Amino acid sequence: MKSISRIITTLALILSAVVYAEDDEKSPLAKEMDSMATVFKKIDRATRKGKIDDKEDLVAAAKQLKESFIKSKNLIPPMVADMLDGDDKTKMIAEYKKAIDESISLCDKLIKNLEEEDVAAAKATIKELKKGRRSGHDKYQPEDE
Ligand code: HEM
Repeated sequence: MKSISRIITTLALILSAVVYAEDDEKSPLAKEMDSMATVFKKIDRATRKGKIDDKEDLVAAAKQLKESFIKSKNLIPPMVADMLDGDDKTKMIAEYKKAIDESISLCDKLIKNLEEEDVAAAKATIKELKKGRRSGHDKYQPEDE
C-alpha cells in the first residue's frame, strides 16, 4: 500500500513540475493574454445575461482589461521578435501596436457602455473586441499555439 501511495506522490510531483515548466516557458505577452482572457470572459458572460448585476465590478474588470492591453502594447509577440531585423519587422511591430491601440479604444468604449448600463452597446463592443482578437491571433500567434 505504502509503495502505491509513494508512486502516486511521485507521479503527482512529476506532473506538477511539467505543468510549472510549461507555464514558465510562456512569453510575458502570453501571460498577459491569459490574465486578460479571464477578465474578458467574466465581462462577456455577465453581459450575455442581458442585464448588469454588479456594475462597479464589471467596470473595474473592463479597466483591468484595458490595463492588460496597455502592458501588451510594450511587449513584442515572440513570432515578430524572432524575425530578422529590417523593414518587415519594423512594419509588423508598428501594425501590432496599432491593433493593440484599437483594442484599447474599444476598452474605453466598453467602460462607458458599462457605466451607462447599456447592455446592448456593451455586447456590440465585445463583439468588436472579439473581431480584434481573431485578427490579432491570425496575424501574430503562431499556428501551433
Ligand atoms: C479580448 C481580446 C483578447 C483576448 C481575450 C486574448 C487572449 C489570448 C490568449 C488566451 C492567448 C494564449 C496565451 C497562452 O499561450 O497562454 C493569446 C495569445 C496571443 N495573443 Fe491574444 N487575446 C486578445 C486579443 C489580442 C490582440 C488584439 C492581439 C494582437 C493585436 C493579440 C495577440 C496575441 C499574441 C501575439 C499571442 C501569442 C503570445 C505568445 O504565444 O507569446 N491578442 N491571447
